[in-house]
Amino acid sequence: MYRTDIARPIRLTDYRAPDFAIPETQLAFDLHPTQTRVRATYRIERRGATDAPLVLLGERLSLKALRLDGVELTPDAYTLSPECLTIPGVPDRFTLEVEVEINPQENKTLEGLYMSSGRYCTQCEAEGFRKIVYFPDRPDVLSKYTVRLRAPKAGFPRLLSNGNLIESGDDANTHYAVWEDPFPKPAYLFALVAGELDVLEDHFITMSGRTVALKIFVDPGMSARAAYAMDALKRSMRWDEETYGREYDLDLFMIVAVRDFNFGAMENKGLNIFNASLLLADAQTATDLDYERIESVVAHEYFHNWSGNRVTCRDWFQLCLKEGLTVFRDQSFSGDQRGHAVQRIKDVKMLRARQFPEDAGPLAHPVRPAAYLKIDNFYTATIYEKGAEIVGMLKTVGGADTYRRALDHYFDTHDGTAATLEDFLSSFEAVTGQDFSPWLKWYVQAGTPTLTIKATYDAAAQRLTLNVSQITPPTPSQAHKAPVPIPVRLGLLSEAGAPLRFVHAGESVTEALFLLTEANTQWVLEGVTQTPVISALRGFSAPVKLTLDEPEAHRFARFRGDPDPFNRWEAAQSLAKALILDPQGAAAAYAEALRATLTDPTLDAAFKALISGLPTEMDLAQSLTPVDPAFIHARRKAFKAELAAALKADAEALYAALPAEATFSPDAASAGRRALRNALLDLIVAADAPAATALAQTHYHKASNMTDQMSGLSALSQVHGTAYQDALDDFYARFKSEPLVLDKWFAVQAACAHRETLTRVRALVTHPDFDRKVPNRWRSVAQAFAANNPAIFHDVSGEGYAFIADEILSVDRFNPMTAARLIEAFGGFKRYAEPHRSLMQAALERIVATEGLSKNVGELAGKALAG
Ligand code: PHE
Ligand code: ZN
Repeated sequence: MYRTDIARPIRLTDYRAPDFAIPETQLAFDLHPTQTRVRATYRIERRGATDAPLVLLGERLSLKALRLDGVELTPDAYTLSPECLTIPGVPDRFTLEVEVEINPQENKTLEGLYMSSGRYCTQCEAEGFRKIVYFPDRPDVLSKYTVRLRAPKAGFPRLLSNGNLIESGDDANTHYAVWEDPFPKPAYLFALVAGELDVLEDHFITMSGRTVALKIFVDPGMSARAAYAMDALKRSMRWDEETYGREYDLDLFMIVAVRDFNFGAMENKGLNIFNASLLLADAQTATDLDYERIESVVAHEYFHNWSGNRVTCRDWFQLCLKEGLTVFRDQSFSGDQRGHAVQRIKDVKMLRARQFPEDAGPLAHPVRPAAYLKIDNFYTATIYEKGAEIVGMLKTVGGADTYRRALDHYFDTHDGTAATLEDFLSSFEAVTGQDFSPWLKWYVQAGTPTLTIKATYDAAAQRLTLNVSQITPPTPSQAHKAPVPIPVRLGLLSEAGAPLRFVHAGESVTEALFLLTEANTQWVLEGVTQTPVISALRGFSAPVKLTLDEPEAHRFARFRGDPDPFNRWEAAQSLAKALILDPQGAAAAYAEALRATLTDPTLDAAFKALISGLPTEMDLAQSLTPVDPAFIHARRKAFKAELAAALKADAEALYAALPAEATFSPDAASAGRRALRNALLDLIVAADAPAATALAQTHYHKASNMTDQMSGLSALSQVHGTAYQDALDDFYARFKSEPLVLDKWFAVQAACAHRETLTRVRALVTHPDFDRKVPNRWRSVAQAFAANNPAIFHDVSGEGYAFIADEILSVDRFNPMTAARLIEAFGGFKRYAEPHRSLMQAALERIVATEGLSKNVGELAGKALAG
C-alpha cells in the first residue's frame, strides 16, 4: 500500500532560493536505444551559504563519471541516493562534468528521454529533466544551453534541439548536430528529438522585419496534414504581436508531432512537441472540434514563448502564472478567430464540466496550491481554467487598456527571470496605483463562490434594490473563506424581453459593471421604469455559481432575447436543468422558446447548435444531491425525447435546408453550419430513433468529412442494433491504419450509453489495436468511458467502477502520470446515492491497497478517499 501518510509533501512555505546558479550548460548525447550516454558540463556559481553542498537531482540514472574542474571525483567525495547526488565542500566557482547512462527504450513513463515510433524525444516538464542527467531540476535555475547530439545516420536523419543549429557534420555511420539556445531557460524547457521525420516549411516576418523559419516535423508522408497547424501558427504569431506587442525571438520555430505523449503539447523553447492528435488534420481524418483544438493548442504553446519561457515560474506552486495566463491568451485568440460569444460559451461549459466538480470535491485545491506530493497531479482544470478566469476578471475590472499596460509591465520587468503571482499582481498595481492584493485570495483559496442576488423592485420609486452576497464553501484543509472580488456585469430587460434602461453613475444605461468586494452589499439601481428582468453575470464575468430567485417567466424572457448571447444560452441551460431534474417537468414551453431561437435568422449557426444542446448528465449531477445517475439519465432522455418530438417537423425542415457541403473548409462559419446540422440530426434521432435509422445511415455514408461521419456514427450508436454495428465495421475497415481516427472508433463505443457497453469495453481492451502504452489509445477507451458515459460508468452493478480501477492499476505500473488523471472519475463519490457511494469507495480502497502503487496515484486516490 502506498503510504501517503509518510510521504513528505513539498510546501510553498519551504521555498528557498537556490544555493547555486548554473549560467551555462553543455550537453552531449550519444543516442542509443538502451544505452544513451549523456555528458553534461556545467559552469557553476555559488549564490547561497558558503557551506551549502551542491545538490543535483537525478532519477534512474547510472552515474559513469564526475569531474570537478577537470579532476575526477572518487565516490567518497559525494553521496548518491535514488533521488540525488550531493557534493559537499565545493568551491564558489567551478566547472562540473557529469556523465550518465540512460535507457530510453525502456522508459514508458513518457517523461525524460523516451522513444516514440522509433524516434527519440523528450518531455521534461515538470520534473523530467532529472531522468536525463543530474541537475538542480527546478524552474528558478536558468541556464544557457549548448547541446550536441550524435546518432546513426540511418534511421535518425534529423537531430533537433532548442535554439539555433550552429554546427553539424558526420563521420562514417554517425552524424552530429550542435544546437545553441541563447536564451537562459529552466531545465523543464529543454527538448531533443531525433529520428526520421517529414517537414512542412514556411516562414514568418515579424513586426520588426525579421524572417523566422517555421518547421513542422511529422511522420513520413504526413506533412500535408500539418498545413492547418502551420496556418494557425502564423496567425498566432501575428496575433501576439498585434494584441500583446510580443515578437518571436529566435530565427527558427519548430514543432514536432509524436504519437506517444502524456498531455496535449509542450512549449519547449523553439521546439514545441505535440501530441499528434493536436497537430495533424485533414477533412477526412479530423473533426471540426479537432481543428478548433489544434488552433487553440498551437496558439497556446506559441504564446508560452512569452508567458512561460521568457518569464517563467519561480517554483511549481506558481504553475498558473504561466498556465492560467496562457489559457486566457489562447481563449482570447480563439474568440478573435471564431467569435467571442460562442467561444465564451464553450469555455464556460468546459470550466463547469471539469473545474467546478473538482472544486466541489475532495481533490479541490487552490489555483496556487500550498503543498503537493507530485506536481504532475496539479496540471488540473483548476490551475488552467480557473487560473484563466482570474486573468479574465482582472482584464474585466481594469479595462483593456490597463490590462495591456499591466501585461507590458509584467513582461518587460520580469523578462529572463522566474516570477511569482505576486509579481504578476504587482504589475497591475504599478500601472494603476491601486491595491490588487485582494485578488490574491482567488489564487490561494479553493472552492467555487456562490453569488446570491435578491432583488426588490419599488415601482413607485422606480428603484431596483439588489441585495448581493457571496459565500465560498469549505474545502479540504480550508474551513474558512474570505470574500473575493467578484465582477458582475449586469443588465436589465423588460418582461417582454427588450433592453431596459437604468441610471448608473449618473448615466442612463442598459448594462453596467459592478464589483462585489465584501461578503454582502446592496446595489441600488434608479430610474427603472418597469418590472425588470435581471440579466446578471453577463459573459460569465466571474467563475461563480449564481443564485437569483426569479420567476420562470423571467428566464424564458432571457432565453428568448437576452442581448448578451452568453446569458441567453445560460437562461436556456438553467431552465433545462430545472425542468429535467423535476420529475414532472414538461418540455412544451422550452420547445417553443427553442423553436424561436432556431428559426431566428439573425443568430449564427454555431450559437444555435450550442443552445440546442441540453445540459450534460455531468452538469445535471452537480445540481442534485445525492446524485442518482440512473434518474438523471432517464429524465434527461425523456425530456430530450419530448422536446425533440415537439420540434421534429422544424428540425427536419431545418436539417433539409442545410445540405452537406461538397467541399470542406475548416473555417468557423462552415464548422458552425456543420455543428447545427449535426445537432439537428441528434434531435431527430432523439424523437424516434428507429424511425431515424435511415437518415442517420445516409448521414454517415454520405459524409464527405470526419465531422459528419462521426456525428452519423454517434447518431447510430443511439439507434444501436445492426445499423450501429455495420457502421462500426465499415469505419474500422476504412480507418484501421489511421491511429488518430481509430482512437475515435474506440471512443465512440466506450461512450455509448447502452448497458452492453459494460461488456464491450472489456472486449475493447483485448482488441489487437488496443495498446495501454499509448496514452491516446488508452484514453480513447478508459477516459471516454469514465468521463463521457456516466450512465454506464455508474451502473449499479459496480462493473464500470471495477473496470476503471483495473485500468488505472494496469497503467500505473509504467505510466503513473497518465494513470493518475483518471482518479478524478471517483472524486465526488461522497455526493452519490447508494449503492454508488459504497461501490466507488470500494474501488478507491482497492486502488490504495495495491502493492507498489505510484506516488502519483497514491496522492490522488488517498485524497479522494479522505475527502
Ligand atoms: N506545459 C504544457 C502546456 O502547454 C502541458 C504539459 C505539462 C505537457 C507537462 C506535458 C507535460 O500546458
Ligand atoms: Zn500551457
